[in-house]
Amino acid sequence: MLNLQSLSAFERPSALSLFKNGALFILSCLVIRFIVVSIYRVWFHPLAKYPGPWTAKISDFHGAYHNVKGQLHVESARAHKKYGSVVRQGPNKLIFDSVTALHEIYYSKDGVQKSYGYETMVPAPGAYNIFTAVDKGIHRFKRKMLNQGFSDQAIRAFEPTMLHHIDLFVRNLVRAPVYNDDNEGWSPPLDMTERCRHLEYDIMGEFGFGQSFQLQTKPDNHFLIDATTATSHKAGVIIQYPRLEYTQYLQLDKLFYRKGMEMREKFLRLMARLVKERLSADKDSQNDLFSFLIDAKDPETGRGFTESELWAESRFLLIAGADTSSTALTAIFFYLTAYPECYATLVSEILSTFSSPDEIESGPKIASCRYLRACIDEALRMSPPISGTLWREVCPGGLEVDGNFLPPGIDIGVNPYAVHHNEDLYPDSYTFKPERWIPSDQNPKEAVERARHAFSVYSFGTRACAGRNMAYMELSDAVAKTIWYTDFRRAEGPLGKVSAGVVGAKDGRQRVKEFQLMEHLTCSHDGPFLQFKGRKGRGQELFKI
Ligand code: HEM
Repeated sequence: MLNLQSLSAFERPSALSLFKNGALFILSCLVIRFIVVSIYRVWFHPLAKYPGPWTAKISDFHGAYHNVKGQLHVESARAHKKYGSVVRQGPNKLIFDSVTALHEIYYSKDGVQKSYGYETMVPAPGAYNIFTAVDKGIHRFKRKMLNQGFSDQAIRAFEPTMLHHIDLFVRNLVRAPVYNDDNEGWSPPLDMTERCRHLEYDIMGEFGFGQSFQLQTKPDNHFLIDATTATSHKAGVIIQYPRLEYTQYLQLDKLFYRKGMEMREKFLRLMARLVKERLSADKDSQNDLFSFLIDAKDPETGRGFTESELWAESRFLLIAGADTSSTALTAIFFYLTAYPECYATLVSEILSTFSSPDEIESGPKIASCRYLRACIDEALRMSPPISGTLWREVCPGGLEVDGNFLPPGIDIGVNPYAVHHNEDLYPDSYTFKPERWIPSDQNPKEAVERARHAFSVYSFGTRACAGRNMAYMELSDAVAKTIWYTDFRRAEGPLGKVSAGVVGAKDGRQRVKEFQLMEHLTCSHDGPFLQFKGRKGRGQELFKI
């Protein structure tokens, strides 16, 4: 007899098996889709002819993975050595490492625009800042406005505030030592990453909000560094793999990164308080961005920044100005202590140029310090504070770069770290040689010009760094003052090796005289640990600050 019970059980599958079959079906579809898309990307895509790692050809996961590990810049240099001067670094992405490509891409007026990745950093619809504005009209307006805050006159007016923080920085270096006979007056090892970060964030707090975060004097706001670092780590990954932005809707941060969320809340509360306090003070009470820009107008349209636009720029400048300059300053300390002969030449230049610390400020004396400027540029070349590729999207009509016709919609760029370590452009590129920036009998003017043409630390064209002059002012004043007051050296033992490459390490991390950066939009690093000793008879005035 027919068993009706077993038949109905056979005909009506359980909810669990329905779910399993459904999931299996969806998974199979996804796998088939992945295989089909990968085949298309590897063999039939318009960029199929360009060489590169196969992982990069099939997915942007390649860039995101190396960015999470902080090594995409090193990976880019390695890829150029292996595959040549054009490398496919994503299904839709090409990187180049020639001077012509640098100029053809970043100086191009209509051929490119900032890539979609920048838009993923916009916190709310329409809330662009100068860095995230992809639209050229919006950017032009913001740039015209901000340029007024970065005029020579404005940054010279801000310099005394900057110098006050630099004095605090040097005072804390010479005050740190527990002087005793054993260490001959040398301080205990000090972590320069931390010291330089605190200095630069305090300076940018003054510039952007008219107030110091007091990181150099109190620990209360130290969380600020972790909060901004977490923001740039996340942005760095998403800019490489923009589709990951959709995972934000799942609010995974709330589940897995509760501490980060709390820090962000604290950060926003601090910013809100600073804005409120600045607004309650007289607008001309500080030489800060607010005072320079609140009444500024676009000469063509007569429009100015709204207050909220201005504060958005100030928040952006915190990362753009502080993270970059602090990496640059830390790198300079690293290289000067890795190359004692360069340190000695610089000390002699500074001590023979300035007879008093008050002379260390913008002007003909500091401008005459050619070796100082060469050391700064060489540290920036060796370890660019923005080491990642600045992606540009090819606009309708396409663009020709190094003789390659590139179709619209693809992302292209030149990786600054890779181009700065292209041996054809910078021979002996992993050696710190400030002399390469100074014309001499051994180094003709043409060689210096060639080096300058490929120097892409601030980028080129309309989107190049707006704060470049201010960065040079900070770096020159800080290095010159530190040398005027102190003698410094690398700590001995294991601490002295922090931030250096490690012999035998893989993937380009083996050079002991190279400052190691972890690239995440801006860069993370640790160390170097240095010891300081005040120069005899100098520094009494610092203790009165
Ligand atoms: C050594 C220090 C610095 C380095 C290496 C650096 C590097 C850069 C780079 C590479 C860009 C282009 C970014 C892109 O195309 O996506 C940029 C943009 C920018 N930087 Fe800097 N920067 C430094 C310091 C500063 C400082 C101190 C400030 C301001 C106080 C600043 C303000 C800006 C602004 C406003 C932009 C956006 C420019 C635009 O899109 O029009 N930077 N910077």
